[in-house]
Amino acid sequence: MKNKSLISINDYSKDQILKTLDLAEDFEENPKQRLLEGKVIATLFFEPSTRTRLSFESAINRLGGEIIGFSSQDSTSVKKGESLKDTIKTVSNYCDLIVIRHPLEGSARYASEVASVPVINAGDGTNQHPTQTMLDLYSIRKTQNTLENLNIFLVGDLKYGRTVHSLLMAMSHFNTTYNFVSPEELRIPEEYKMFLKEHKLQYKEHIDFTDIISEADIIYMTRIQRERFSDPMEYEKTKNSYMLRRDMLKGVKDNLKILHPLPRINEINEDVDESKQSYYFTQALNGVYTRMAIMSSILGVK
Ligand code: CP
Repeated sequence: MKNKSLISINDYSKDQILKTLDLAEDFEENPKQRLLEGKVIATLFFEPSTRTRLSFESAINRLGGEIIGFSSQDSTSVKKGESLKDTIKTVSNYCDLIVIRHPLEGSARYASEVASVPVINAGDGTNQHPTQTMLDLYSIRKTQNTLENLNIFLVGDLKYGRTVHSLLMAMSHFNTTYNFVSPEELRIPEEYKMFLKEHKLQYKEHIDFTDIISEADIIYMTRIQRERFSDPMEYEKTKNSYMLRRDMLKGVKDNLKILHPLPRINEINEDVDESKQSYYFTQALNGVYTRMAIMSSILGVK
């Protein structure tokens, strides 16, 4: 992975994914490794973020690297009309690695084509969020002791949710059974169903999941992505589609864990937080170890 950009989770083979997870495990056990001393990493966030930006920055700090960047394009020359191309070419001169979040699908790939340093996609529109997927895989493997043969429920906004799109593709390496739960308007796009058909993987689509919750190994809740809707009425119609409550967890499998990329709005009731099935805050912590692993591999220090 040395000097290689990470734009789509498909940029990594199954073997590379598993090696990254092993490395992340090593960072969790031995977090004090100052491997990025002398390296400068730019975090360019053209869209809001709490977990992705701060876990990247926490990982960089813990590894002894230096951070430059911005958390909003409002403070940059993009406000004066500078293009993404010129921004990326300029920032390339100041750093060893660029982490970018941008609202446009394909922007991270484009950035990697014009940058003179490797680029990590921290979320491009509704397309992909590969480092989130790496921490999701880490969380799944940690809680299930395997990634193979699991029944995963993906619930919520499956149309616009980039974390769902990346996770679906990554889990295709592991003989996963998929249950897609969404309102009619926010079903998983056809291209992803085609992908699963090509890989001969089982999937079902549902509007409701209360009757089948006992089959799940992982429930991956997602918020309805208000910022992606062109029609605010459509958002209003779907925004309260799901709310997972603790009383719905009677009779679930012993190994069930509930994941969520966060932020949550109202799709997981706070009474679930103290249940043994909730894992979403530890999942967010796992972002530090997995991002340590990804950056160290790309910068060739591991
Ligand atoms: N999971 C995730 O991408 O969260 P943030 O938007 O807070 O970075």
